[in-house]
Amino acid sequence: MKDRITEEKIERLISQMTLREKIGQLNMVPSPSGEDEAVFEMLRRGEIGAFIMSNTAHAYSEDSVSADEALINKMHRIAAEESRLGIPLICGRDVIHGHYTVLPIPIALAASFDFDAVRECYSDVAREAARDGIQWAFTPMLDLARDPRWGRIIEGPGEDPYVGEKLAEAVVKGLQGDDPSSEQSVAACAKHYIGYGAAEGGRDYHKTEITDYTLRNFYLPAFRSAVDSGVLTVMNSFNEIGGQPTGSSRYLLTEVLKQELGFDGFVVSDWFSVQQLVNQGVAEDEAQAAALSLNAGVDMDMSDRCYIDRLEALVTEGRVSEEALDEAVRRVLRVKFRLGLFEHPYVPVYRQDRAAHMSRARALSASCMVLLKNNGVLPLKKNSRLALLGSMANEKATLLGMWCLDGNPNHVISIAEGIKSKIEEGGAVNGCGTDLSDEQLMHLQWSDAAVLCIGESRYVTGEAASLTTLEISDSDILLAKKAKERGIPVVAVMCFGRPRATEELEPYCDAILYAWHGGTAAGGAVADILFGDVNPSAKLPVTLPRKTGQVPIYYNVSSSGRFVNGYYGEREHEQNYLDCDCTPMYPFGFGLSYSRFEISDISLSQDSIPYEKLKDGGKIKVSAKLRNISERDGWEVVQLYIRDRVASMTRPIRELKGAEKVWVEAGDAKTVEFELGFKELGFYKGDKSFDVEKGKFEVYVGNSCYADLKAELRVI
Ligand code: NOJ
Repeated sequence: MKDRITEEKIERLISQMTLREKIGQLNMVPSPSGEDEAVFEMLRRGEIGAFIMSNTAHAYSEDSVSADEALINKMHRIAAEESRLGIPLICGRDVIHGHYTVLPIPIALAASFDFDAVRECYSDVAREAARDGIQWAFTPMLDLARDPRWGRIIEGPGEDPYVGEKLAEAVVKGLQGDDPSSEQSVAACAKHYIGYGAAEGGRDYHKTEITDYTLRNFYLPAFRSAVDSGVLTVMNSFNEIGGQPTGSSRYLLTEVLKQELGFDGFVVSDWFSVQQLVNQGVAEDEAQAAALSLNAGVDMDMSDRCYIDRLEALVTEGRVSEEALDEAVRRVLRVKFRLGLFEHPYVPVYRQDRAAHMSRARALSASCMVLLKNNGVLPLKKNSRLALLGSMANEKATLLGMWCLDGNPNHVISIAEGIKSKIEEGGAVNGCGTDLSDEQLMHLQWSDAAVLCIGESRYVTGEAASLTTLEISDSDILLAKKAKERGIPVVAVMCFGRPRATEELEPYCDAILYAWHGGTAAGGAVADILFGDVNPSAKLPVTLPRKTGQVPIYYNVSSSGRFVNGYYGEREHEQNYLDCDCTPMYPFGFGLSYSRFEISDISLSQDSIPYEKLKDGGKIKVSAKLRNISERDGWEVVQLYIRDRVASMTRPIRELKGAEKVWVEAGDAKTVEFELGFKELGFYKGDKSFDVEKGKFEVYVGNSCYADLKAELRVI
């Protein structure tokens, strides 16, 4: 919400700024790694508005390099005290899923369905980052993605808009806190706006084709939620949609994001994406690229110097209006005021309780790990004799996941360490191999179970890391097979960034824990689950295919005219594919617990509601009974889905509209309640209007998208 006094201050400042100073506010450059007189001079002249702190750590390296506090403060001092108007800098960094304490990768966070915990952990992230002079974190990444070949699927919420909304809110509110001007808060950045996850063939940076209908119903909701949660900045994406790069789309940036969604912070370009308009072929040169971007609504230029080098001439020539320039400056200043940077630009000093951050990270990491299969071998006894196999058993750096600039691999708990720390008298851990030598085979012989830790390198996930093959490697399958042939149970712990096709591995595994890249505390969290100290509770935020050829495969698909909807097992004789079972390996929303639950007694507060009442805020209450029919206390994520049976446009067979993570003691039962209102029952139509259409809705409650406990509702 804009406040009058701040807006007046902004206008006063703008009225005093030279053209060069205005353009300077829109210029983000990499921060220097040491004393740099040329940069200091630019600061004095007011030609730098922001730093991207990309030089203070070695991105993707194993070394963690802490920021140079004295240098950062010196640069703030020059901007605040030696420049003509004393406008503070803003320093941003890719703090994506943790700073020193690294959380699981974002797609794993989505699997937790515990968005309060995510929010709390992100305020720990903010506390760690802000203490290092970081005022702005380039996260959350909110790109809905249906194709796990795309390496960046690891950075976002997965395939569902509702999960995207929840993750957006949790991360934005966690980082920015209740008061973004607090020294321990940092600005969030919702990215990459928009449609980046729809890259053709999963090839990073590639083109996308997204209709307005799909944009608004699938890709936009997470960004809308970020805006509603007060996100201070948004980053545009690299892709084009239907022939228009997002960074040159006035429609997407100004009309949709700023006007329709009401975003009043600033838009920053992604790294060199202004200049890349030349490569994309919509700009002849950097000057045209700068004009297109600024006029479309990109307020700040990240690193490619197109604005600082070209805008002055463009304004003088009238290719960019001074009003457009002022509007961009206004937005940047607004964020700086909201962050309190005019009052406290310097690196703040306070104490942090890193041990508390680590213990929350460990609990969250465990609640992100999805138990896919368990024939009873889990939980393991602490006096078990275990053979520990696979390349991930002793791994540390991998568990930090991609897009982690400051996590120190030496601080990571490996799976082997986690397991060994729990073993009690009589138990033992042997092995740790990737090929089965005679000695290891002998160990297997007298083991109670094999724990097979497999995974993918973090370097094949993230940006520019797409794959064509999602199947598990032959060597990992062979390892599982050999272990199984010894007649002992095999527990697979899968440390992957993206959904993988597990079909060929399945027959050799008695249990499968999808542990993702789980962050600093990952190995401890794996052990917490394997030995039953924590009851698994996560659910897949994305579909796991059987084979790569099935992708894109996602649950919220609409019905085909011939009911050939393999996901839901419809129409067996007309298949989606002839050479593969058409169902997914594991569906969206699926995940096991050590407890057993029964969901029953669905009921609606009323089975019909007048359209007008709904529009006026009327709600339908949906309730169901959740029974824990086991002897273990545990969490269950109860999920609410709807299906709009007949509408003017095709609607998904299932759409998630609510998810409650509920703790139920053994033998106990709880009533779980949801609400359905105008927002949940409506959709954006082709003409961009949002409405609820009268008629029949099916309402489902269950513990995956296969929920079949059903009630019917009519909007009349
Ligand atoms: C490129 C990435 O797409 C984006 O996510 C990141 O924040 C920027 N570079 C800055 O490093």
